[in-house]
Amino acid sequence: MKRTVLDYALKIRLPLTLFVIVASFILTFYISRAERDGIGYAPVQPILFSHKLHAGQMAIDCKYCHIGVEKVRHATIPSANVCMNCHTLARKDRPEIIKLTQYYETNKPIPWKRIHKVTEYAYFNHSVHVNKGIDCVSCHGDVKEMEVVAQAKGFTMTACLDCHRQPHENLPYLKEVKNGPENCSACHR
Ligand code: HEC
Ligand code: HEC
Ligand code: HEC
Ligand code: HEC
Ligand code: HEC
Repeated sequence: MKRTVLDYALKIRLPLTLFVIVASFILTFYISRAERDGIGYAPVQPILFSHKLHAGQMAIDCKYCHIGVEKVRHATIPSANVCMNCHTLARKDRPEIIKLTQYYETNKPIPWKRIHKVTEYAYFNHSVHVNKGIDCVSCHGDVKEMEVVAQAKGFTMTACLDCHRQPHENLPYLKEVKNGPENCSACHR
């Protein structure tokens, strides 16, 4: 009698329990993944602005709107007056453009939701990367194909260091590229 109970415990209960533990671990790992490293984060924006249409089909240069990305730390998000260079005329009767015009005329900033964010205690600077010829695609994915911008890659410390240690593998299109810094104080100032 005792023996069959033990048998049951070893052959059925134990594997079953282990399976449930492993399965729920894997499940939580993948479900919480986006939240942990931000991959796939694509909030609904106040105006349905499409990169695929503007940067893709119309081929407007990224730097036309993200002014200064090659000069300063942060890439700016364009204010409504950049949009109005075209939208005082283009599609001005469409609902999304009417919304845009209202922000512009009342001088209110468009409350775009922030997508990419490195924590406060780490230092990132666009200009050093962009000036070395690193393409936006290498860090942001193919934005000009995105109807709605979604974070394509993680910006964890491992992700930064992976490229810093192996720039040639990560940036095959660059003939000459130096390794990025690995010393703590470069990114934690
Ligand atoms: C016509 C203007 C315009 C052009 C051209 C443009 N963008 Fe944008 N971009 C915006 C606006 C407005 C936002 C904020 C709304 C959104 O996320 O869609 C934005 C957001 C982004 C974001 C997300 C910012 C965040 O909050 O983290 C990235 C990354 C980005 N753009 C990259 C690019 C790249 C790469 C190109 C060129 C292939 C490009 N953009 C071309 C206007 C533009
Ligand atoms: C080496 C990787 C890398 C490259 C190359 C890069 N970005 Fe970024 N981008 C980031 C990171 C990391 C953030 C988050 C920055 C932060 O939170 O301080 C970011 C944030 C942004 C933002 C939000 C505003 C900001 O600066 O925080 C925009 C817009 C943007 N990038 C556009 C671009 C465009 C356009 C290009 C190409 C000209 C580009 N990025 C190239 C890594 C990169
Ligand atoms: C260089 C000119 C230009 C700039 C700058 C520009 N747009 Fe556009 N946009 C257009 C044109 C042209 C269309 C119509 C394209 C089509 O439907 O074929 C359009 C379409 C749109 C649409 C879709 C309208 C609809 O419902 O048909 C939205 C929304 C929009 N733009 C928002 C913006 C925002 C927000 C900005 C600024 C961040 C901006 N655009 C900057 C030229 C521009
Ligand atoms: C796709 C590759 C790539 C990614 C991703 C990347 N870097 Fe870099 N980074 C480089 C390269 C290459 C250099 C060296 C450029 C040079 O000096 O020639 C560099 C240089 C730097 C520097 C030194 C700048 C200076 O002032 O000299 C800092 C700081 C830095 N990166 C921070 C970061 C952080 C933080 C992240 C992650 C959020 C990141 N990088 C992600 C490629 C990358
Ligand atoms: C290339 C840039 C870079 C370098 C070099 C770097 N870090 Fe980081 N570190 C980061 C970023 C970015 C984060 C934020 C990670 C996140 O948000 O997930 C971070 C986060 C951390 C954290 C918080 C815990 C964690 O893992 O998120 C600690 C602790 C840390 N770094 C210590 C160090 C030490 C110690 C060194 C030197 C051996 C170092 N870092 C070198 C970019 C860097």
